[in-house]
Amino acid sequence: MSNRTLAILKPDCVRKNLAGTVIKQIQEAGFKVLALKMTKLTEDSAKGFYEVHKERPFFSELVEFMTSGPCIPIALEKDNAVAEFRKLIGATNPKEAEEGTIRRLYADSIGENIVHGSDSDENAAKEISHFFSRKEILENNGF
Ligand code: RTP
Ligand code: MG
Repeated sequence: MSNRTLAILKPDCVRKNLAGTVIKQIQEAGFKVLALKMTKLTEDSAKGFYEVHKERPFFSELVEFMTSGPCIPIALEKDNAVAEFRKLIGATNPKEAEEGTIRRLYADSIGENIVHGSDSDENAAKEISHFFSRKEILENNGF
């Protein structure tokens, strides 16, 4: 069990001015922010990040959405981070997400669902290094 996961506040979250609200909820749930940045994904970067979904029918829509505006990747730390974070954000489809979860509260649709969370420890490590250097994580982790 690893204690890290990668969140991305997706372009809909940034557009709706919900970044602060969602970060507050994440921190109040006991996650520590290890590293954070605001960045606009290029098509290549979005395709690389969601490579596992490249054969899925929604892939091009997903890449278009993820490159439609700036997003905010955040490396997070908490015991059992991957599972705990997925519990906090709720099901992929906000209509199926539990009451009080971030997607249920703020997401409009399965495509535009406010936030990403890693789905395994292995992917969390890969995804964190997609956005952050080892140095960025270490420099911010000394407090
Ligand atoms: P994520 O990777 O973003 O945390 O979401 P997830 O694990 O809950 O869902 P996943 O199956 O990994 O799908 C990745 C993202 O693709 C979009 N999607 N659209 N139109 C659709 O049927 C559909 N299905 C998935 C969503 O933005 C989903 O979060
Ligand atoms: Mg996923």
